[in-house]
Amino acid sequence: MGATADKLKAFEEKRADLLTMGGDKLIEKQHSLKKLTARERINLFFDEGSFQETQLFVKTRSTLFGLGEKDIKADGVITGFGKVNGRTVFASFQDFTSAGGSLGEMHAKKIWKVMDLAMDARKPFVSFNDSGGARIQEGVPSLDGYGGIFYRNTNGSGYIPQITAIMGPTAGGAVYSPALTDWVFMVKESSYMYITGPDVIKAVIGEEVSHDELGGAVAHATKSGVCHWATENDEDCINKVKTLLSFLPDCYDSMQPFVATNDSPDRECPELDTIVPDRATRSYDMRKVVEAVADDNIIFEPHEMWAKSILVAFIRIMGQTVGVIANNPKFNAGVLDYMASDKASRFIRFCDAFNIPLLTFADVPGYMPGTHQEWAGIISHGAKLLFSYSEATVPKITVVTRKDYGGAYIGMCSKQLGADYVMAWPTAEIAVMGAEGACNIIYRREINSAEDPASKRKELVSAYEEQFNNPYFAARMGIIEEVIAPRETRKRVATILDALKDKKEVRLPKKHNNIPL
Ligand code: HXC
Repeated sequence: MGATADKLKAFEEKRADLLTMGGDKLIEKQHSLKKLTARERINLFFDEGSFQETQLFVKTRSTLFGLGEKDIKADGVITGFGKVNGRTVFASFQDFTSAGGSLGEMHAKKIWKVMDLAMDARKPFVSFNDSGGARIQEGVPSLDGYGGIFYRNTNGSGYIPQITAIMGPTAGGAVYSPALTDWVFMVKESSYMYITGPDVIKAVIGEEVSHDELGGAVAHATKSGVCHWATENDEDCINKVKTLLSFLPDCYDSMQPFVATNDSPDRECPELDTIVPDRATRSYDMRKVVEAVADDNIIFEPHEMWAKSILVAFIRIMGQTVGVIANNPKFNAGVLDYMASDKASRFIRFCDAFNIPLLTFADVPGYMPGTHQEWAGIISHGAKLLFSYSEATVPKITVVTRKDYGGAYIGMCSKQLGADYVMAWPTAEIAVMGAEGACNIIYRREINSAEDPASKRKELVSAYEEQFNNPYFAARMGIIEEVIAPRETRKRVATILDALKDKKEVRLPKKHNNIPL
């Protein structure tokens, strides 16, 4: 064999060795925990044969860090890019079988490189996390590595979509890159995220809690809201990441993705004519309204289990992505509490940053009262909602289905927050407050001094309802554009979105705004 052939053979062997990652035993351990390896995840994520790996030969400066001759293949993370349903996506995959996927200096630099490439190429970045955190032996260069990732997460925010899939442990400061990205997926039972683990918690404050209870997918999807999608297993998680990507543009000013549909823009939704119950105190599921309006009735909903009195979701109308924000009377009467305000605000800001039009459905009795809400800061959290809608310059359409009272009326994308087109169903009640509450205040004297206060109250309440609890007063004042039959909603929304597709709105020049965080 000649020298060139020898070199080629040595290269092939070296590469094959690196591709083995942690080796059979650790791969078996990974499988026993119902987790796939990084390379198996890559095969599921990218279109067949499209993955291009970057920096496979990068290695830790092991001797400098006292790691001896420890052979950490690919330095514990596989980076690169490929096609996902035909579109380019950049990604990193930490591999727990290689030194627990721990993040050292060179591991971090591989991630920096692929993030830089994603931003230069103006394509989405997805981080698949499965790591024991900062590589303890490497010390401060590991922390430096995280710093560089956080900086890039922030720099790329609002420029390219950034997604994190938590598919194993994520502890300590390592939780902050996910929190800086736009979307966080977790896998039930095999993933967890926390700042300090159960042992430290027990030692410091004496509280006993399991990994899963503290920071598992369900905990973060129901209690903290850190997780947007709690998925069943690795495969489900990867499929859902791909579904999300199908709704998103590559970069903030890229063409929106288009998904062909046979659904007609003129399709009527007769089921919506009867969805609002006769009695105002009865609930209904706003999800059904959103499904009815969406192309092929498909909706993709983050935060399904958190702050459920508001629903946010991606749908398509005539093949184009639309972001929906909707009070859901099925949960807590659709009230706006501090969590619902945060949930909606972050969603609105994401959609606006990536030029996704907003469709709002309002059925809201008001902001949630009580000491818990006030002390949790409902004032500043509620302000975020006003801020997010007001600053958004994408097309904004609002449909009022039933109650739309007081401050919450303003908050749910009313005309003065910049809604381009507000419509109301005949069942809408656009008013300062509900009739009972209003009459108790403005007619207190008349009611108290009446011979029969109960029947006087009833009479005044029904007169008030007739005058104010309907959409016609708002329509007469030009505060809404139209009263429509519920069955016409999809058709109207499709027509208006089409008319507004080239909308341009400018804001005052400034360095950046100061949303009340
Ligand atoms: C170096 C690590 C490591 C780490 C795991 N390993 N975490 N090596 N630094 N942070 C190595 C282990 O030594 C082991 O190597 C291999 O990975 C597999 O780990 P196991 O412990 O055998 O796995 P398991 O029993 O499944 O336990 C997983 C674990 C545990 C719960 C995640 O490894 C663990 O507690 N790791 C440390 C977690 C942590 O405290 N991280 C925070 C670091 S500070 P061998 O050679 O035996 O196979 C931090 C701050 C960041 O992250 C700040 C950023 C701002």
